[in-house]
Amino acid sequence: MDFKPYIRVIPDFPQPGIRFKDITTLLKDGAAYRAVIDQLVERYKDEKIDLIAGPEARGFVIGAPLAYALGVGFVPIRKSGKLPGETIESSYDLEYGKDKLSMHRDAITPGQNVLIADDLLATGGTIRTTIDLVRQLGGNVVGAAFLIELTYLNGRDKLEGIEVTSLVKY
Ligand code: PRP
Repeated sequence: MDFKPYIRVIPDFPQPGIRFKDITTLLKDGAAYRAVIDQLVERYKDEKIDLIAGPEARGFVIGAPLAYALGVGFVPIRKSGKLPGETIESSYDLEYGKDKLSMHRDAITPGQNVLIADDLLATGGTIRTTIDLVRQLGGNVVGAAFLIELTYLNGRDKLEGIEVTSLVKY
């Protein structure tokens, strides 16, 4: 299935010069949303995955249904100040702006195989930080899965050595 027709591109959001890839137009189409998750399930069903970690907020929309379909757990990576338990944190640069991500310290048992899932790979800052947090907790990052990859931002370069799967490339 070609997902591009379902993704709406909005110019100059959230700031001039950014062409925002809006996945809400895909998500509201049940067949397209299911097909996205099904394609990722096909890709990863034979891998040894114990957990999926996804960054807030759009990473939840891809990561949680994928975890459900694979029958593995889901770990939310959240923006700073949202998780109630003891956390580890790391700062990162975004395509636009700066942010801090956090994880519960007990989210991962050392040695668990963790697949990272998000809607979009742009500069790679979010996923680079997510990988660092997962590794800090002893997780073994087995790959990173995205609906969209903005290849012109070269995010893959920040993820050296990590297997990257993306379903739609711009
Ligand atoms: C967006 C997107 C990815 C990240 C990609 O999330 O969902 O997580 O940016 O950018 P990067 O590769 O340059 O780091 P955002 O931080 O806007 O949060 P949201 O999902 O809560 O909107």
